[in-house]
Amino acid sequence: MKQSFFIKTYGCQMNVYDSEKIVELMTHNGYERSENIEESDIAIFNTCHIREKAAEKLFSDLGRISKYKENKIKSGNSMKIIVTGCVAQAEGEEIKKRNKSVDLIFGPQNYQNITEALKKNEKKYNFTNFLCKEKFESLPIKNSHDVSRLVTIQEGCDKFCSFCVVPYTRGAEFSRPVEGIYLEVKKLVEMGAKEVTLLGQNVSSYQSNVFENGNEVSVKLSKLCNLISKIEGLERLRYLTSHPKDIGDDLIDEHLNNKKLMPFLHLPIQSGSDKILKKMNRNHSRIDYINLVRKIRLKNKNMAFSSDFIVGYPGESDNDFSETLDLIDQVKFASSYSFKYSPRPGTSSSLKHLNIIDEQTQELRLKKIQTILNKQQEEFNLKFVGGVEEVLFTSSGKKNNQFVGRTKFLQPVHVLSNKNLIGKKLMVNLENLTSFSFHGKIIN
Ligand code: SAH
Ligand code: SF4
Ligand code: F3S
Repeated sequence: MKQSFFIKTYGCQMNVYDSEKIVELMTHNGYERSENIEESDIAIFNTCHIREKAAEKLFSDLGRISKYKENKIKSGNSMKIIVTGCVAQAEGEEIKKRNKSVDLIFGPQNYQNITEALKKNEKKYNFTNFLCKEKFESLPIKNSHDVSRLVTIQEGCDKFCSFCVVPYTRGAEFSRPVEGIYLEVKKLVEMGAKEVTLLGQNVSSYQSNVFENGNEVSVKLSKLCNLISKIEGLERLRYLTSHPKDIGDDLIDEHLNNKKLMPFLHLPIQSGSDKILKKMNRNHSRIDYINLVRKIRLKNKNMAFSSDFIVGYPGESDNDFSETLDLIDQVKFASSYSFKYSPRPGTSSSLKHLNIIDEQTQELRLKKIQTILNKQQEEFNLKFVGGVEEVLFTSSGKKNNQFVGRTKFLQPVHVLSNKNLIGKKLMVNLENLTSFSFHGKIIN
């Protein structure tokens, strides 16, 4: 009988993409996926280390799963527990210390070794090398008819923002060669994908080379988008996440000229205060960001923006926080994420114990910023009510005959239809808005 495995994914879309690849690798090697953790022979936790809460979630899940494992062993069966992802990379030793039932630990660039280690029955072995090239060359593509797919084009980060663990968990920036990305997207489109999101910690600093007419030429994100858009059958292209410092005119022009490239940019700024941006080592100022958004909108008035914010970074005064709110007011975001600052082991900001913002102030600031960001999102959405938008349908809804799709700006749209709409791109009249999603009717 085939051994079964369960996988739980925490964190960002890069982890979602990695989990797809782990699933495919396991199934290629004769394991069967199970949705039931208690009954599975192997439990895999693909983890996130970005904030303390994310990492602690793993340890509480591990506590529960080790009980299942104990029971299994008592009844003469076995179970293997594998921890992968960013916590595995950053805290491999800590995991082993805190939970003795964990069998194997793999950092984000070592998944290609999972099945081999299982076959060899390796015990308590840590795989935490930075092997980006090997990872991309050896992991299989998930076989599915999903309409919207993710493709990592770049992994790791050289920016070292003072609060962030990513440079430590994902290693140095690595851009995948163009050919592998192109072939992967082509294959996904052949399987039924209509939309692809190119992933990276800093996609806007993607840099690779190709040979054109015998000459080696550099390929940046703009050119990569251009090349990929030529794939017939691909209808929408997106990328995530960009850094304000790396958005060049070439990319802005590509948005203008490439109809497949969606007019939506996730451009985290973290704070609107120059003092805090400097402490965060973001390498750009508040006005740089405002000017960049202004420049993009001047060329392409359609473009919408989203961002990430951190509140309560050490030393953030009321005035600094007000500057963030003022920036939000000036820019007007279509949607955004905001977080309380969480000190992470090994990062430079966690080593300074000065001017820590108390929990209550952090909480108040988070509530305030989220109220404002939600209001902006609503204002952005309200402008679409009664209008017609192009919607790409990706899945069925909760109700009978209901289908869910997204506009160019990632707004969810629900539609009722007797025909299956999955994979179709249709014009929809957005009739009304409930919280953050639309209900609409297809226009014939
Ligand atoms: N590469 C992206 C973001 C990666 S992490 C960028 O350059 O912005 C995703 C988001 O998590 C960040 O944008 C930030 O807002 C948040 N984040 C990262 N580290 C954090 C920390 N220590 N505390 C709170 N939020 C954090
Ligand atoms: Fe983290 Fe900064 Fe790199 Fe983004 S750019 S992944 S926030 S270090
Ligand atoms: Fe988390 Fe690692 Fe992604 S820390 S946000 S899973 S890169």
